[in-house]
Amino acid sequence: MFEITDDLIGKYSIIGPRYTSYPTAPMWHEIEPATQQEWLAVNTNSQKAVSLYIHIPFCRDRCLYCGCNVIITRQQEASAEYVSYILNEIDTLADSRRGNRIVKQLHFGGGTPNFLLNEEFVQIMEKLRDRFDFNEETEIGIEIDPCTTRPGQLEFLAEIGINRLSLGVQDLDETVQKAVQRVQGKEITLEHLSHAKSLGMKGINFDLIYGLPFQTVDSFRKTVEQIVEMRPDRLAVYNFGYLPNRMIHQRKIKSETLPDTKTKMRILLGSINQFCEAGYEYIGMDHFALPEDELAVAQKNRTLYRNFMGYTPKSNIDLLGIGVTAISEFDRYFVQNEKKLKLYKQHISEAGISGIRGIELSPDDLKRKWTILKLICHFYLDFKEFQDEFSVDFTSYFEEELSQLKDLEEDGLLELREDCIRVVNHGQILVRNICMIFDAYLKRSDVPEVKYSKTI
Ligand SMILES: C[S@@+](CC[C@H](N)C(=O)[O-])C[C@H]1O[C@@H](n2cnc3c(N)ncnc32)[C@H](O)[C@@H]1O
Ligand code: SF4
Repeated sequence: MFEITDDLIGKYSIIGPRYTSYPTAPMWHEIEPATQQEWLAVNTNSQKAVSLYIHIPFCRDRCLYCGCNVIITRQQEASAEYVSYILNEIDTLADSRRGNRIVKQLHFGGGTPNFLLNEEFVQIMEKLRDRFDFNEETEIGIEIDPCTTRPGQLEFLAEIGINRLSLGVQDLDETVQKAVQRVQGKEITLEHLSHAKSLGMKGINFDLIYGLPFQTVDSFRKTVEQIVEMRPDRLAVYNFGYLPNRMIHQRKIKSETLPDTKTKMRILLGSINQFCEAGYEYIGMDHFALPEDELAVAQKNRTLYRNFMGYTPKSNIDLLGIGVTAISEFDRYFVQNEKKLKLYKQHISEAGISGIRGIELSPDDLKRKWTILKLICHFYLDFKEFQDEFSVDFTSYFEEELSQLKDLEEDGLLELREDCIRVVNHGQILVRNICMIFDAYLKRSDVPEVKYSKTI
């Protein structure tokens, strides 16, 4: 059972990064696609396997809560044109790589990837199989909006090799669904889950959001009760990112309809406890998985990793992002592709790639990234492993940070031992606060001020 007192909520409910990367994306700087090309060249002989992420930005309708980078259109031809640029980008990335081309993981994210027509998926898969190496073990996943899948689409996706599925659910309460303009009956969700299971898909995930309009502790408890009965393999329970100043469509959600901070916290804690009581493992920030799911297994084996898609069982891998806004992570580099479709197409036509922001990690960044990843993925950090990795003594290098952690230890978030740090009890829910101690950029005055979301 996770419990946090109101005092601790007050103390630790501060704004902070979600650490899907370190340094966090706002700390990256502008680059030219030519710089991305140079960085890819540095990594050309990499012996690491590959993880590919393909971003499909299109959605037929806009859900009012949505904070993702999407293009709302009913014009089906938009995707055919887009796919031609994706194919071009795949070629450039494949050309830049002479080392290991084995794809351990491929993920279609969005937007709504099921917007693509079958023949467009075929084009992409043929190109990928031609330019990279796939095998039986390659994990191929897709994010699906169950309201817009076409008849026969799941069977088709299974036929072309898709074996992982993530479904947007958000909340099962009708009042909440209407308020966010995403009305999705429980039946359609259940139908997709059973169908995907019967097709042999694994790691089936549901996305939920807490903090949505008209949600109450009781209404979300009922949603969670129904969800655990359905028993998806994985769950992501996101904190509603409400930024009406930046996202005009979110202004249709009135702030007075949102649960207040304490209610939100009770909703979150209630759902965490419900999932754990129902046999799910708490993986870390926002994520749960059944004990036999590979995410839970990877956490136990300490091979879990976290990147901009969230937690992943695949570590020690080069992530190559394809499509508008996609992010790549390889060697000591992060790169983000152009966000605007028109400019993305222009870059791809000219250079075959479209990286416009990125960063080369310094030796200090690499040490802090390693540290944050250990804490956020495994709730455990072994000082000797750090010594083995960097030939530097952890306790001397992070002397100041370790003394700052003492306060968090007194509040019961962690245990500081002679040879390791263990994140315990409610510290696992507040792990962002612990990671923030190791974030050098938060202490610097020469970096942009960022409006992160609240840690809880
Ligand atoms: C990019 S969407 C893809 C899923 C698919 N388009 C759908 O809606 O079913 C991935 C997930 O992001 C989450 N999401 C979107 N906007 C959010 C927001 N403002 N705050 C928190 N989570 C959000 C939702 O849970 C959504 O299912
Ligand atoms: S939640 Fe999914 S379907 Fe809705 S607008 Fe966002 S990406 Fe599109």
